[in-house]
Parts: sequence; structure tokens; C-alpha cells
Amino acid sequence: MLAIVAVAAGDPEVLRVEEVETPRPGPEEVLIKVAAAGVNRADLMQRQGHYPPPPGASPIIGLECSGEIAELGSDVTGWEVGDACVALLAGGGYAEYVAVPAGQVIEPPGGIDRVTAAGLVEVAATVTSNMAIAALGEGDIVLVHGGAGGVGSFAIQYAKALKATVVATAGSEEKLAYCRSIGADLAVSYRQDWVGGVRDFCADRGVDVILDNMGAKYLTAHVSLLGVGGRLMVIGLQGGRKGELD
Ligand SMILES: NC(=O)c1ccc[n+]([C@@H]2O[C@H](COP(=O)([O-])OP(=O)(O)OC[C@H]3O[C@@H](n4cnc5c(N)ncnc54)[C@H](OP(=O)(O)O)[C@@H]3O)[C@@H](O)[C@H]2O)c1
Repeated sequence: MLAIVAVAAGDPEVLRVEEVETPRPGPEEVLIKVAAAGVNRADLMQRQGHYPPPPGASPIIGLECSGEIAELGSDVTGWEVGDACVALLAGGGYAEYVAVPAGQVIEPPGGIDRVTAAGLVEVAATVTSNMAIAALGEGDIVLVHGGAGGVGSFAIQYAKALKATVVATAGSEEKLAYCRSIGADLAVSYRQDWVGGVRDFCADRGVDVILDNMGAKYLTAHVSLLGVGGRLMVIGLQGGRKGELD
């Protein structure tokens, strides 16, 4: 099969289309004929050599795809060859075929084309799992950083569907306008005094849930913004991994 292979760590020029061996599905896996693969921030980091695949995973980049079932592992039930699907992958999406545990495969959402569907699973799984752990609900205030990004834009819309109040940050006026257009009740630039803006908006009650892509850089600010019983969900370390509270 053909796959997009990173021949070294570096810029997009290191990516080549090459002939590689087609994977075989294990007993609990399905083989997917890939229609489209999502492009995530983690893919860019993997290409640059900063995000190695987990042990045993395909060295080929790609954490999500849409497509159809091409082959079933011997223990797989509930799927037929030819069924449309989307999948969350440990790697291998930038290829014509990928083998994946059947438990990471679902039917595509209705009414969405295959290319769009390929970019939904990673952000949807990240947001819904974290919002469930945080028990985000009606009336809560949630702070979403990078509201115009992949995870952020899904988080704004999902939180609004849960009837939460959404405060979003972004890095440009255009992106702030986009955050508002998809439901953010307040959108503030992270290049200005966003902590003051969020604090004024929340008045004396504080933020209930923070979806934190930054880690160390915002730790002090986040703890100061949380209300009683607030939940800090750290999903990224774009601002460093070692923080200090005093
Ligand atoms: N734990 C998990 O399972 C999991 C899964 C997927 C993603 N993630 C993490 O989630 C985050 C978003 O991923 P993504 O795929 O959505 O990537 P993305 O589309 O590239 O989004 C990155 C976001 O970071 C924002 N940002 C940059 N500097 C910032 C700052 N100083 N303060 C606040 N926000 C800032 C950007 O905002 P602007 O574009 O407005 O500058 C952008 O929206 C990443 O940290 C990623 O590692 C975690």
C-alpha cells in the first residue's frame, strides 16, 4: 500500500509517499481502507520528532481516519466488510490501510461527509471524555483556551450543547470573532489581560471547569480563577510541564 512516511524529523518536506507493507489485523482488530485522515497538532509534533508514537504503534503518522471496513480480525463481531466507519488510532492514519482495535471504531456521524468525519474523532473523544470527568453541566462556567483551534472549537460547541456558559481565549481578533460565532459567551485575547477579563465576567463565583492546553505557564492564573469545587482539566503542556504554586 501507499503511505505518507516521515523519512526524518523536520519540516513538511520530510514527508514522502512511499510503498510500505499493508498491515494485517490482529484477532481483535479491523483493517480499515482509509478515505481521509485528520491532521492534528500531535501529528505535526510527531513529524518534528517531539512526539514519538507509543510502544507497538505504527510509526506512520495519523491519529484518526474515516473509511470502510476492509477485513475483520477473527474475534471481531458487529462489523461487516464494506461498513463505513471512523476510528481513533494510535498511529498509521496517513496510509491507504490501517489496522485498529475494533473498540476504537464507530459508525460515522450522520449527515457528515467522509473528509469532515475524519477530523472529528480525536477532538470529540478528547473533549467529551474530559467534560464527563469534570462533570460539566448546565449553568457551569467553563474556560476554553484556543477556542478557534481543533479541540477548542469542538469544546465551545459541546459545552454550549450542555447549557454551560463558555469563556474562550484566542490569539487574534479574527479567531475571537469565530469563537463568538460558534457560541462563546465571552472571548478574550490571550495576548492581553485575559485573567482580568475572565475574573470580571465571572464576578465573585469563579470558573467551574478549565480545559487547559497550557500547563505550567497558566497554573497560578488557573488556580486563582477556579471557584470552590472547580476542576482543572490539563490536556496539553504547550506552556511547559513544570509549575509551582506558592
Ligand atoms: N490529552 C489529549 O488526549 C489531547 C488530545 C488532543 C489534543 N490535546 C491537546 O489539546 C491542545 C489543542 O490541540 P489541537 O489539536 O486543538 O491543536 P491546535 O488546533 O493547534 O490548537 C492549539 C491552540 O493553542 C492555542 N494557544 C496558543 N498559544 C496559547 C496561549 N498562550 N494561551 C492560550 N491558548 C494558546 C491556539 O490558539 P490561537 O490559534 O488562537 O493562537 C490554538 O487554538 C494541545 O495542547 C494538544 O496537545 C490533548
